[in-house]
Amino acid sequence: MNHTKHLVKSREQIAAIRESSKINIAVLDAVADRIGPGMTTEEIDQIIYQKTKEMGAIPAQLGYEGFPKSVCTSVNDQMCHGIPSKDVVLKKGDIINVDASTIYKGYFSDSSRMFCIGTVSKEAHRLVRVARECVYRGLEQVKPWGHLGDVGHAVQEHARNNGYSVVKEIGGHGIGLEFHEDPWVGYTTKANTGMLLLPGMIFTIEPMVNMGAADILMDESDGWTVYTKDGSLSAQWEIMVLVTEKGYEVLAY
Ligand code: MF3
Ligand code: CO
Repeated sequence: MNHTKHLVKSREQIAAIRESSKINIAVLDAVADRIGPGMTTEEIDQIIYQKTKEMGAIPAQLGYEGFPKSVCTSVNDQMCHGIPSKDVVLKKGDIINVDASTIYKGYFSDSSRMFCIGTVSKEAHRLVRVARECVYRGLEQVKPWGHLGDVGHAVQEHARNNGYSVVKEIGGHGIGLEFHEDPWVGYTTKANTGMLLLPGMIFTIEPMVNMGAADILMDESDGWTVYTKDGSLSAQWEIMVLVTEKGYEVLAY
């Protein structure tokens, strides 16, 4: 489908997408309040489902292309799209990405955060911190008449400067009227290239930053979970950004 003509949202659409985003933030806040050692990823799924419903919304992931749960939970060397399970019990030292998305009155939002379970190794903590910094380096590039390629470039530079790699195949996306809209937001882009950013555009910045190589490995048995090929740790944060007249507004985090 081509959503190009919808990439610049109207004032009314932006207001509605902002409301959806507030729910997504609250849902992840609810996870943040309770996550810890001994919790299963199934319990995270239940928190997400219940909180989203309580706020009058629907988890966008549930049933999306057959995804069986309301949230993706990706632990340690899992990069993304991990499926919550009662068999996955969080333990001290784990790092986990919780990726939530919301449909509210037909409008979509999407963001994800990392959580450190108990005390984690210095190396894991650094990876989680730098992955977050990468997102905000990208964000600093968002401005009207800027280039989308500047975002990816800034992300990649910061990861590389810290000795990490960024996954090439999976990127961010436009969002709002649909879950996944144009543009695709990659992180191997060059500065001064790519789509021109205009006020009213909304997209996610969500690089996966690996401690080792960037290569990915798909779990053929569940058809969803993506791992690092070399088994190294991976971290990802996702924010949802609106291009404004002056720069940007973070809608969801
Ligand atoms: N939230 C993910 C994203 O950033 C989407 C997960 S799709 C699902 O695009 F199928 F796994 F639900
Ligand atoms: Co996303």
